[in-house]
Amino acid sequence: MREEALQAIQSAPDLETLQAVKTRYVGKSGLVTKELGTLGKLPPEERKRRGAEINAVRQAIDAALQGREAVLKRAALDAKLASEAVDVTLPGLPLPSGGLHPINRVYEDLIGIYERMGYVVVEGPEVEDEHHNFEALNVPWYHPARDLQDTFWLEDGRLLRTHTSPMQIRYMVDHEPPMKVVVRGKVYRYEATDATHEAMFHQLEGLVVGDGVSMADLKGTIAEMARGLYGPSAKVRFQPSYYPFVEPGADFAVWWDNPRGESKWLELGGCGMIHPNVFKAVDDLREVQGKPRVYGGKAGFAFGLGPERIAMLKYGIPDIRYFYANDPRVLGQFRGEL
Ligand code: PHE
Repeated sequence: MREEALQAIQSAPDLETLQAVKTRYVGKSGLVTKELGTLGKLPPEERKRRGAEINAVRQAIDAALQGREAVLKRAALDAKLASEAVDVTLPGLPLPSGGLHPINRVYEDLIGIYERMGYVVVEGPEVEDEHHNFEALNVPWYHPARDLQDTFWLEDGRLLRTHTSPMQIRYMVDHEPPMKVVVRGKVYRYEATDATHEAMFHQLEGLVVGDGVSMADLKGTIAEMARGLYGPSAKVRFQPSYYPFVEPGADFAVWWDNPRGESKWLELGGCGMIHPNVFKAVDDLREVQGKPRVYGGKAGFAFGLGPERIAMLKYGIPDIRYFYANDPRVLGQFRGEL
């Protein structure tokens, strides 16, 4: 029985099995315990000998149980430690992160360029009144831009701004020259959408007013922007154009050595020298507010451009509607890019 018990103890694979072996041999009704119970029936001489014999077996079993229990406990602890070990040298799990929308990335580029040239960056209301959006910008009531087709009108007679130019008026009414400002923000046009037209898009408007500001300053500024965007090889082209709030007015395009070899003129926006009627409208508004008329005799230029066109080319996005469809397959490509 001794050998059999010791064998069972040594081969018990875990603490549970060991406990069962313990119960089987030295538990209340275990085999060794039962043997001890038989001692009473033996003659005294025999009882003494047999008692010592059984006690020796019991001691051997107890010792073996203790030894095996220590080994199994240790093994269980080691296994637990190993399974719960943390390898602090492993790289961390990447956290899901968002990213700047491609339009905002282009804005960041543009605004960085203008901030380096000393411009102030402002925003303005998207809900405008007719006076700021059209009238004060020398857009007469009969101008085609006033056509219901182009403008989202609100029930209260106000409208969603069709360009960022009304901020020229607001900024000049609130500030005295000299000034260098860029305006960023959304604009709205009531038109059918297609690959290059959206009902909502963005503009960056520039406004510079001072003494003796000239067309040459305007051209230099646009050229500086082009080089900032596309490097030192960038060239700009100006073509006469008509916007009621500038005279002369021009459209500008940019050319640069495109590494993909598909260089062509990129029509970016409109610009021109501020029309005297705009300065007059600003001074009229200032006068109503009790502010001095300060724009007579001043000169300035303005320009407006669309970051969508730059972003479509820069990121190879073929349809302007992709920017605002919230399709993760499109926007997910810009994740983590800040
Ligand atoms: N506001 C004009 C547009 O939306 C762009 C422009 C701005 C033209 C400033 C000239 C000067 O088309």
